[in-house]
Amino acid sequence: MTTETRAVDRGSIRIGHVNKVQYVKRDIKKRKCRRMKRSVPVVPMALQELFVSCRDVFKGPGTVPLPCDVDKLCRILDNMKAEDVGLSSNLQFFNPNVQVKGSSSRVTCTTIYKCDNFSLCIFFLPATGVIPLHNHPGMTVFSKLLLGKMHIKSYDWVDPTNTDDPAQPRQKRLAKLKADTVFTSPCSTSVLYPTTGGNIHSFTAVTPCAVLDVIGPPYSMEDGRDCSYYKEHPYASFPNGEVALTEEEGEGYGWLEEIEVPENSHMDGIEYLGPQIIDT
Ligand SMILES: [Fe+2]
Repeated sequence: MTTETRAVDRGSIRIGHVNKVQYVKRDIKKRKCRRMKRSVPVVPMALQELFVSCRDVFKGPGTVPLPCDVDKLCRILDNMKAEDVGLSSNLQFFNPNVQVKGSSSRVTCTTIYKCDNFSLCIFFLPATGVIPLHNHPGMTVFSKLLLGKMHIKSYDWVDPTNTDDPAQPRQKRLAKLKADTVFTSPCSTSVLYPTTGGNIHSFTAVTPCAVLDVIGPPYSMEDGRDCSYYKEHPYASFPNGEVALTEEEGEGYGWLEEIEVPENSHMDGIEYLGPQIIDT
């Protein structure tokens, strides 16, 4: 998700706790060679292919990828591994049995690439770490769980055209539950769209996790794509709403109330130290 973008834009991101997530160290071997060859950085094909495809697919605000483009990006992401972005399950961060000194449940993020049309980000959640319920206005987001086990809960607005009245900031809106599932890597890519697919979602780590997000277009306060956060209420709390549902049907719905930016939404940003994309 992209709260980091929001945080970066507001200049409030705190760079720290770099020791919580470390990248795989590249071996530097001294070889006795008669002729020294100039080393050429190797970009994993999958990451480069993802970048090139994203550049082709995301043409800026207002565009939603065509089904064939969604399939293409999903196929690439489905085949991607943690190693493609410089990570490994052997890293201490991902060992559920190791309690890293000074660690907290705070989430860390890193940006592999960002332009006006799309961004590639990785979110690192320690066990019990949470990215609280938030939306993605006008965006399409592909999420690929690279490592770990994560609970994802997501909603879509029942009436996406019914936008909030600024005069009533605490207005509750009815949303349909899209997913309430625990994902374990390796698993297939999930996709959310501007009004479908679970545009409003939360992540809760069961074990330490890394999730790669492809976000198009990225959050932008200037372009009206700011991130909002929500508190969920059971449908039964306010049953006389927009549609009449039985108790059983109501379990598939919830009322979402927009809230102030929650404390646990703040993330630590770290530099991306994995393989670099070649932007030609
Ligand atoms: Fe998100």
